Amino acid sequence: MKKIIILFSLLIISCQQTNDIDSKVSKLLSQMTIQEKIGQMNQYNGFTNFTGPAPEGGDEKNKYDNIKNGLVGSMLNVRGVDEVRAVQRLAVEESRLGIPIIFGFDAIHGYKTTFPIPLAESASWNLDLIEKSARLTAKESAAAGINWTFAPMVDITRDARWGRVMEGAGEDPYLGSLIAAARVKGFQGSDLSSEETIAATAKHFAAYGFSESGKDYNTVDIGINTLYNTVLPPFKASLEAGVKTFMNSFNDLNGIPVTADKFLQREILKGDWDFDGFIVSDWGSIREMIDHGYAKDRKNAGELALNGGSDMDMESYIYLEYLEELINEGKVKMSQIDDAVSRILKVKYELGLFEDPYKYLDKEREASVIGSKEILDATYEVAQNSIVLLKNENNILPLKKSGLSIALIGPLADDKNSPLGNWRIAADNNSAISVKEGMENYDGNKITHSIGVRLINKVPDGFHEEVSINETDKSGISDAKRIARNADVVVMVLGEYGFQSGEARSRAKLDLPGLQQELLEEVYSVNKNIVLVLMNGRPLVLNWHEENLPAIVEAWHLGTSSGSAIASVLYGDFNPSGKLPMSFPRSVGQLPLYYNYKSTGRPGIDGVDPGSVFWSHYIDELNSPLYPFGFGLSYSEFIISDVKLSSNELKSGESIQATIEITNTSKIKGREVVQLYIQDKYASTTRPVKELKGFELVDLNPGETKAINFTIDEKMLEFYNASNQWIAEPGEFNLYIGNSSSTKNAVSFNFID
Ligand code: BGC
Repeated sequence: MKKIIILFSLLIISCQQTNDIDSKVSKLLSQMTIQEKIGQMNQYNGFTNFTGPAPEGGDEKNKYDNIKNGLVGSMLNVRGVDEVRAVQRLAVEESRLGIPIIFGFDAIHGYKTTFPIPLAESASWNLDLIEKSARLTAKESAAAGINWTFAPMVDITRDARWGRVMEGAGEDPYLGSLIAAARVKGFQGSDLSSEETIAATAKHFAAYGFSESGKDYNTVDIGINTLYNTVLPPFKASLEAGVKTFMNSFNDLNGIPVTADKFLQREILKGDWDFDGFIVSDWGSIREMIDHGYAKDRKNAGELALNGGSDMDMESYIYLEYLEELINEGKVKMSQIDDAVSRILKVKYELGLFEDPYKYLDKEREASVIGSKEILDATYEVAQNSIVLLKNENNILPLKKSGLSIALIGPLADDKNSPLGNWRIAADNNSAISVKEGMENYDGNKITHSIGVRLINKVPDGFHEEVSINETDKSGISDAKRIARNADVVVMVLGEYGFQSGEARSRAKLDLPGLQQELLEEVYSVNKNIVLVLMNGRPLVLNWHEENLPAIVEAWHLGTSSGSAIASVLYGDFNPSGKLPMSFPRSVGQLPLYYNYKSTGRPGIDGVDPGSVFWSHYIDELNSPLYPFGFGLSYSEFIISDVKLSSNELKSGESIQATIEITNTSKIKGREVVQLYIQDKYASTTRPVKELKGFELVDLNPGETKAINFTIDEKMLEFYNASNQWIAEPGEFNLYIGNSSSTKNAVSFNFID
């Protein structure tokens, strides 16, 4: 009873706060001129000189003056307490109404201290850790004056050619939804107005992850079934977790650039889902509708974007220039502008910016929080949990801690930059712990190092110190072979340099870039005892490696603590438990590739009747991935029993139990991710061959057995059906429990309405 009263009182307080904010917003709105309203919908990228004298001419002067004139609602990429304060001061103390600016930033996997790239973190399947990583990213960003991150990216991605797969949670809408919610909760916390939390953004709304042929910024053409069942769930989950903003994107969807998509933004998001935060465009995406061949000119682009539901214009400068004219011509409605501005002001109130626009700006906090031990320690923990062991023949891993002679080879072995990954605008270059440094912390072995193939420095692109992996210079290969020849074990650190995945980094080939494969095979010719440590932002094609090498460790781009985390796994101080959040293909030609595909009228099974031609397959490749979604090994060994069901009938409104027993048959304590998949055997629309519906992280001591129980209810069976309803249809279902999506451990049940 006491609990109910407390909950009820909290509910009343939160309703009062909402009402308070709503009335403050309407009051402020009534005092604003049209231009000031439009100004709130205008977002600029940062520029230099905030803390110096005012700029004298050109674009920078214009931006500066516009802030003073109350014509800028938000800025991105302005960071650091001094810079943010200088800009905020202009807005708050010099503009007529003193409306504070909301400062946005891409804190995607950390701020200055970097966490593993989101795809890597997702491999942990550890929602508490993922939430913690977002919470600490928020804390560090907020200490630098940031109030709003453009994360999480919740795009479902099935095509490893697309460089932005590194930013998301992979291919599965169920796992993606849970991770989206964990990240939103982490960034926003339970009190958005705290100095340690920031507003989150669910992006990119929607379907950007389905960019045709994996090319960035590209066309998307998918049906309503895939949209509702696969693309939208993580966005819905973000909304339910309370996300304050959405970002649309560069792609068109079924012919309409999503920046102007009324169906997505007005009907679904602001209509059916009742979202009351605001939508920001992607960078210049309003302007880009001209290049899409959708808007006639800039003015028309503004009209289409506002009518389509975009509330804030990121870096197109179109709203500020044309919205007033468009109102006067009756092409957009004043009510739409009022609605957009109210949404933006509301979030600013919720952040506490009106109460104290300088609340995020504390030099002491900035100095003590950024790079603090608390955050650094967390990057280590998250990095360890993100590592996936793909192969470990004859227990070559873990390595002995003494008495070994180890050859450490590869362009990424002592690279302190690549592990930081792609979104690390605020990180110091070369600030990650390299694998060499991590391994040298264990001093019982003799380690010799050879780069084999060099990284080449390229011209910085404005943000980053770019490198690439050498494609021509083979001069280092002989040295690598020399040290490998006499080593007990060779650790090779190969993969993609930090900016080889990410935005605009689509690849048509998914092999090891540059001369790395040649280096690997040359080293292999003198010593086959190779542990391959991979650093990459996307699934790669690893057939040769799987066939020939005894051990493969997927170490992604793991952030600041990368090398220490990898070393702890190589030496067995941490037993790997990561599971792939995306399928790894055998060939690029298999893409898009995902475990929850639909069956066809000619399904066939890999390896069965290879002579038969007339089924849905390739004549030169298997259908199956090399490593399936959900796959990952451990130094422990686990056995999972057959599945027991409490009943073979599930009645509407009731539930049944599915149980397995899992035993750790090894001598090493370990963690297994037990996964539950369900297949709806027939329905009013065709359904995937199986879908993840639950999982549990299970820790087991040597010899220990635990019973793991999943409750199966109607909710788990729901989908967007042929009558456009989100419901469970009666019928037959297969249920699988295992340790990857390729498990065959199945039972069946019926759902009766
Ligand atoms: C990306 C967004 C990002 C924005 C601001 C765009 O190019 O698509 O994801 O948030 O830039 O940096």
